[in-house]
Amino acid sequence: MNKRITRKTLEKSLSEKVVKRLEIIGEMCAFSEYRCYLVGGTVRDMILKVPQIDIDIVTEGDITSLVSNIAKRWKLKKTIRSQFSTVKISFVHNILLDIAQARKETYPYPASLPVVQKGNIVDDLKRRDFTINTLLMGISKKNFGIIYDYLGGIEDIEKKTIRVLHKNSFIDDPTRIFRAFRFKERFSFRFERKTKKLINNAVRCGLIKKLSPQRIRKEFFLLLEERNWDKIILNLSKEGVFKELGIRNNISRATINSFRNIISNFNTTKRNWKLSKLLIITENAKPEEIKTFSQRVGLKKKESNLLLELTKKKTSLTLSKKEISTKQIYLLLETIPLDGLVYLLSKVKSQSKKRIMMYLNNLKDIRTKINGKDLKRLGIKEGPIYKQILKMVFDKKLNGRLKTKKEEIEFVKKIIRKKRV
Ligand code: CTP
Repeated sequence: MNKRITRKTLEKSLSEKVVKRLEIIGEMCAFSEYRCYLVGGTVRDMILKVPQIDIDIVTEGDITSLVSNIAKRWKLKKTIRSQFSTVKISFVHNILLDIAQARKETYPYPASLPVVQKGNIVDDLKRRDFTINTLLMGISKKNFGIIYDYLGGIEDIEKKTIRVLHKNSFIDDPTRIFRAFRFKERFSFRFERKTKKLINNAVRCGLIKKLSPQRIRKEFFLLLEERNWDKIILNLSKEGVFKELGIRNNISRATINSFRNIISNFNTTKRNWKLSKLLIITENAKPEEIKTFSQRVGLKKKESNLLLELTKKKTSLTLSKKEISTKQIYLLLETIPLDGLVYLLSKVKSQSKKRIMMYLNNLKDIRTKINGKDLKRLGIKEGPIYKQILKMVFDKKLNGRLKTKKEEIEFVKKIIRKKRV
């Protein structure tokens, strides 16, 4: 007998309003005699009782008319038509509804983008990556909540197993190697034996290098967002994936642990610390390796430069000097983004840590309270001198002096009197 998800469970994970709307969409399709289901990660997460952010719907019908019916019924915030006959709709409660036309895919050569044709629901399931992502759930009145399992997805979820649908899966689409590790660690699953072998082969055959930097970047940044990102990168490293991306050395568990400790003190739960994680990955790499890695992962110039700069260790060395002025600390750290500073915190000794914290707590946000208008009011003639004066005020503030605007103005008066500018 088919498994069924109860309405109560659905309402708990999606809210009553969303469930009701899904049922109406199901009825719209049933009225036009189109098959229409929830599919993929949405159904997988429902079975695993994982909170939902996006809802994926697949239909054999014409999505243009379905979307226009949906738009007639509810006021939609935004619809985005993307590639491969899918439409994303910004639905209620910040939920993104992804409606896709059932399709068949073929890959003309390894790591290519697929050639897409219209297909039926089963074709659409067969083109997918892992069995756990091939489940359907009915949303019409007749089959609401019923799970359809054509390819063994339920058994694999129950056995906590990641299994591909066919032996060419990673050859067709090597981004699935990253996805496999991402799902494995997200759900604490394991790889089915043959799937593991297919991953090994795909990595050893150099298929990752065949992917475009944009595609690698997308997958790579997604895995850095995962809660278990550290386990994922350690596993990828063990698997030899980083060698394929240009980094020869293994990743240090010690840096990861120290970094985890540091970020627990920062109250920024929404932050992903992606740049810090990239720094951890590349910390023992040579500049040439970092350049290759940056190119293969499609890093932006700014990201790549930060990796090159901080892995040189010049900043940590300067920070650890016996004598260093507040101004020198400021100048050393002012161009480094917070991700870079937090990475440094996880690497340096206590004296340097204190200096970074001093920068973050006391120096980073220092601004002069006076501006050009104040200088004008003091009767100073406009010109390059303004910049000079404001810089002198700023430097003085860095040393902890000049707290108030009044003190800043007094200071300016003094330097004018002494004709120091
Ligand atoms: N898919 C695939 N191969 C890929 C990417 C996606 O077969 N390289 C399929 C999977 O079946 C997946 C579906 O397309 O379930 C939707 O993709 P995506 O939204 O990326 O997957 P989710 O499973 O929803 O992943 P997440 O939970 O991380 O959003």
